[in-house]
Amino acid sequence: GDNVLYLAHRHGIDMEGACEASLACTTCHVYVESSHLDLLPEADDKENDLLDMAPFLKENSRLGCQII
Ligand code: FES
Repeated sequence: GDNVLYLAHRHGIDMEGACEASLACTTCHVYVESSHLDLLPEADDKENDLLDMAPFLKENSRLGCQII
């Protein structure tokens, strides 16, 4: 699907996504601009569990491959 990870790749942005969007890594960790955060559906439990392991976790952290 058209998640942020794949969109980035399509636009030549070298974003990491070690598990290829299968929710098994944190390499696609991104910070979402606060003005956009509220527009996104909330992260589900599985995404949040992984985010808890992400380095430099912030209030606006998401996994890029889970942002659709
Ligand atoms: Fe692994 Fe997003 S690419 S969780």
